[in-house]
Amino acid sequence: MSVARTLHGARIVIAQDPPEALGRAIAAQWPAHRVVILADATVAALHGQRMRSALAADALLTFPAGEASKTREMWAALTDALLARGCGRDTVLVALGGGVTGDLAGFIAATYLRGVPFVQCPTSLLAMIDAAIGGKSGVDTPTGKNLVGAIHHPGIVWIDPTFLATLPLAARREGLAEAIKHGVIADASYLEWLHAQMPALVDAAPLPRETANELVERSVAIKGAVVAADEREANRRQVLNFGHTIGHAIEQVSGYAVTHGEAVAIGMVAEARLAVRLGLAAASVPERIIEVVRAAGLPIALPTSLDRDAILAATRQDKKARAGTVRYALPAAIGQMAGAAQGYGIPVEEPAVRQTIAEM
Ligand SMILES: NC(=O)c1ccc[n+]([C@@H]2O[C@H](COP(=O)([O-])OP(=O)(O)OC[C@H]3O[C@@H](n4cnc5c(N)ncnc54)[C@H](O)[C@@H]3O)[C@@H](O)[C@H]2O)c1
Ligand SMILES: [Zn+2]
Repeated sequence: MSVARTLHGARIVIAQDPPEALGRAIAAQWPAHRVVILADATVAALHGQRMRSALAADALLTFPAGEASKTREMWAALTDALLARGCGRDTVLVALGGGVTGDLAGFIAATYLRGVPFVQCPTSLLAMIDAAIGGKSGVDTPTGKNLVGAIHHPGIVWIDPTFLATLPLAARREGLAEAIKHGVIADASYLEWLHAQMPALVDAAPLPRETANELVERSVAIKGAVVAADEREANRRQVLNFGHTIGHAIEQVSGYAVTHGEAVAIGMVAEARLAVRLGLAAASVPERIIEVVRAAGLPIALPTSLDRDAILAATRQDKKARAGTVRYALPAAIGQMAGAAQGYGIPVEEPAVRQTIAEM
């Protein structure tokens, strides 16, 4: 196994060894602990038994797949299942699955008996390169997504790109939107690489191992570095919101018919155009993003059915909004975000946003 880096005490491993190596790593880090795996039903059916035996786990607890499971009710039901099994403080919870499983299991681990150790074993591309890195966990409420949660750092993040072999192509695209974001916010050469590899990345055939490894390595390096830098540079983490302020508004106004990855793709195009309008970036920046987003098979334009005023209104409710003006993470160039000196959350007056959305 190769240790990529340590982030807030979490050992982030891009695994080259079979899952038995994770079993040994857990046993070494928490001797005499009992392992309980949490997985959604889809991932449990595909990988549950294999992982249960590899980790010598006491139990595999499952719940229905999908965002609808990321609730306080499911947190309570799974917590009660752990209590009913008599799981004590010597329990290590392993989140085996996508971002829903990681967020839910992380929140359970943060609160169970005031906190038990936790391992992230992401199986979706989005979870490998985004959700499992950074320690945020939580659930949705009827008011909105991710409104109740905790920061609870896993001891180990075990990223095994071979899980991607069973991931449907649509779900792979959800992760690719975030990978493109990583290139735009931090690394122009990574964006070039993604563009060049895109035919293989969006092919229905399983990803070649080398390609999957490089994709995961480079994105994890970027997200990890941004999260780590957040401690030193106040608000560096805001750059991860690129594409997400308008993206979240699109998702919400569409009633989540537009997926997160699709909404972020459109949001990156819109916010890059906003940067051009504000004189922060050259026109070539949104043009370059459009080329790569298109190659990924992700949308670049707002569906005509979505109400532009409703999207504008929804940007105001985004959690980045403060005292009237909404703050945006905007690119200055490919690989470089604007605002390094005065802060990465750039306040933008509404007329500029309105015009940008109107032209989408
Ligand atoms: N904590 C964070 O910092 C953070 C960051 C980004 C996103 N998130 C959260 O992540 C969630 C989205 O993550 P997601 O897209 O992974 O969703 P998900 O967990 O629902 O997974 C997507 C689908 O893929 C299936 N799946 C996962 N791995 C598979 C595999 N290897 N083979 C076959 N099917 C597989 C799942 O069963 C599910 O149906 C959202 O709830 C979001 O809020 C959290
Ligand atoms: Zn996102």
